Amino acid sequence: MRKVDRIRSAAVLIDGDCIAWFGPGDGLNAPSGCATLDARGGCVLPGLIDRHTHTVFAGTREGEFVQRIEGRSYAEIAQAGGGIRVTVEAVRRAGLDELVEGTIPRLARMLRNGVTTAEIKSGYGLTVDDEIKMLEAVYRLQSLQPIELAATYLAAHTTPREFDGRSDAFLDTMFDDKVLARLRDERLAEFCDAFCETTAFTVEQARRVLTAAKRFGLRPKVHADQITQMGASTLAGEVGAISADHLEKINDAGIDSMKRAGSVAVMLPGCSWFLGVEQAPARRLIEADLPVAVATDYNPGSSMVESLPLVMSIACTQMRMTPIEVVIAATANAAAAVNRQDRLGAMQVGMQADLVILDDPTVERWLYEPGRNGVRTVVKAGRVAVERDS
Ligand code: NIG
Ligand code: FE
Repeated sequence: MRKVDRIRSAAVLIDGDCIAWFGPGDGLNAPSGCATLDARGGCVLPGLIDRHTHTVFAGTREGEFVQRIEGRSYAEIAQAGGGIRVTVEAVRRAGLDELVEGTIPRLARMLRNGVTTAEIKSGYGLTVDDEIKMLEAVYRLQSLQPIELAATYLAAHTTPREFDGRSDAFLDTMFDDKVLARLRDERLAEFCDAFCETTAFTVEQARRVLTAAKRFGLRPKVHADQITQMGASTLAGEVGAISADHLEKINDAGIDSMKRAGSVAVMLPGCSWFLGVEQAPARRLIEADLPVAVATDYNPGSSMVESLPLVMSIACTQMRMTPIEVVIAATANAAAAVNRQDRLGAMQVGMQADLVILDDPTVERWLYEPGRNGVRTVVKAGRVAVERDS
């Protein structure tokens, strides 16, 4: 894990959208004419990056929530036709405007929790038109609110009903060269994700689609080793994935393969917490020297949890990550996992001024109390995006 310095009694100088200087001092000698923000009593962090979300969706699935409480598993519900396919029906029925309008309040709440950058996946459309509708929603949302968004094409999420028993034919349609060229030319996605699981796709299918997408400039990543160990994290390394996410069932071969490729290990502790299942072995991955990121996996099925600070606190208590490790995981390492490490995720002169001011004097004090929103002010690209009154 990389190291961080904490500077007590510090000030940060922002020029335009960049960090111009930071260091010890009370800020009282700021150049005249400078607007000031008071961080007294609190602390200042880089803006949080929620690097794995499914924030564009329609409908809700509280029925499955209750079924799980009664003892059915996520996989059983999916095999019985529930799960992702239920949200697919709702997203197919929704128009583009409805998807955009439904997502705006979610992003506004994420921003108030300190998130300044987020990745959003498609994957609930599962026809070419409906997947593109989801990606167009992300594209439109970029100009309607301050959070910087990165879009991921997740057509390999599950096989839709109309292709039952014909998953290869489904993938042929969704990963046709013309479709991939359109995503590239219209800048609709930066990344391509695939869900490797017994209820979704095999490692060979994921290899095929991620390799195809890579030829069109979409960087691969993988939903890997969540419920079943199928070799998906090994595949992530083999295809040079920017990250492998979930990893509850990761094995040594997967760790070695990801290390060779420099893939980031993205932990989704809110998902295991929400499903009531075991957490990924974050400590083992940190000790193996893999870069570890933490994200919400915000989605209506397995992680109806939009608060990244809550998920960060869960990473502390359930994965035994220290608060400092978790803050690095949701900033610098998350920036690397979204290919923005040169511009975002760290307090460095010349980096974009995406900052969060907390009410709390330390990150330990903040993550110790996850039920209270401790975010006082959010600065996005040098501009105040949230300023809480009290
Ligand atoms: O990351 N794993 C696949 N996708 C989501 C679940 C999506 C859903 O259940 O709607 C996840 O957990
Ligand atoms: Fe996910």
